[in-house]
Amino acid sequence: MRICKAENDEMSQTEAINDLALLEWQIAMGADETIGEEPADWFARSAEKMAQKAMQIEQAPSSPSQPVSAGVLPRPVQKTASVAKPVTTSQDNVGDARKLAQACKSIDDLIKALETFDACALSRTATNLCFIDGNKGARILMIGEAPGRDEDLQGKPFVGRSGQLLDKMLSHIGLSRHSENPQDSVLISNTVFWRPPGNRKPSEAETLMCLPFVNKLIELVAPEMIVCLGATPTQRLTGQTKGITRLRGRWFSYGENELQVPVLATLHPSYLLRQPMQKKLAWRDFISIKTKFVNIA
Ligand code: URA
Repeated sequence: MRICKAENDEMSQTEAINDLALLEWQIAMGADETIGEEPADWFARSAEKMAQKAMQIEQAPSSPSQPVSAGVLPRPVQKTASVAKPVTTSQDNVGDARKLAQACKSIDDLIKALETFDACALSRTATNLCFIDGNKGARILMIGEAPGRDEDLQGKPFVGRSGQLLDKMLSHIGLSRHSENPQDSVLISNTVFWRPPGNRKPSEAETLMCLPFVNKLIELVAPEMIVCLGATPTQRLTGQTKGITRLRGRWFSYGENELQVPVLATLHPSYLLRQPMQKKLAWRDFISIKTKFVNIA
C-alpha cells in the first residue's frame, strides 16, 4: 500500500498521541519506572506459578497430618490448574496465611513460606520479596510500613534514603543492623513484604494478609522491644487508631502472658526526610529506646 507524506505524518501523529495516552494511563496505574525493553505479562506468570504449585500439591502425599514444608500449604488438589483464579484477600486466604505462618519453626521456614506465598496481591507485581534485614538474634525488632523501589530491587527492607537515615539514627544510640553482636544490633522488617505499586500505602487487606507472618516473626525473634516506624505498624500491632503524631513517643504492649513485648511508636524516617524539623521528636524517641534498652539489660 502506498501512503502519501501527508497521510504518513497524520498516522505518526495519531500513533504518538496513542503512545502518550498509554504512557499517561500507565503512570496513573502506578508505574513509575521502566524495568525492561519487553512488556511482562504478570498474569501469565502468576498462572504459571499457580500451575506449578498445583503440581507440587498434586505430587505431595494427601494425608491431612502431612507437615507443611517449603511454604506450600496443603490445599485441595486442583485437577485443571492451567487457568489461575484472580488472587483475592478473603478470610480464607488470611486463614491460609495464618496456618502457613504457624507451621514455621524458624525464620528460614518463614522466608521459604513467603517465597511461595502468593495470596497477597502485592507479591504479583513486586520484583523481590523484602522480608528482613539485620541480626536475627537482635534484642530490638523494628517494623516499618512497606518496601519502596530500592528495597524492591535489592530484596531487603530499608535500603533506600529512609533506610540510610534510619541507620544514622540507630548509630547515634549505639545500634546497628550490621552488628553481629545481639547486644547492639537490630532486626528490621515491615507490615507488608512486597512493594505496593507506585509506592502507595498498603491497604488494610494487604497488611492483614501479612500480619500472621509478622506475628510469627515476633514469636521466633522474641525481641525485648519492638519499635514501630510510622502509623501503619503502630496501628496494626497495638490496635491504636489515632494518628502517629498523637501516638509517637508512647510505649504500648504487644502480646499476652509470657510473650509481652514493649512497643514504642515513633515517626517514619521518610516523614522525617520530608519534615526535617520533626527530627527533634524522633531524637527524643530514640533516647527513650536507649534508656529502656539499658534498663532491660
Ligand atoms: N519504608 C518502609 O516503611 N519500609 C521500607 O523497607 C522502606 C521504606
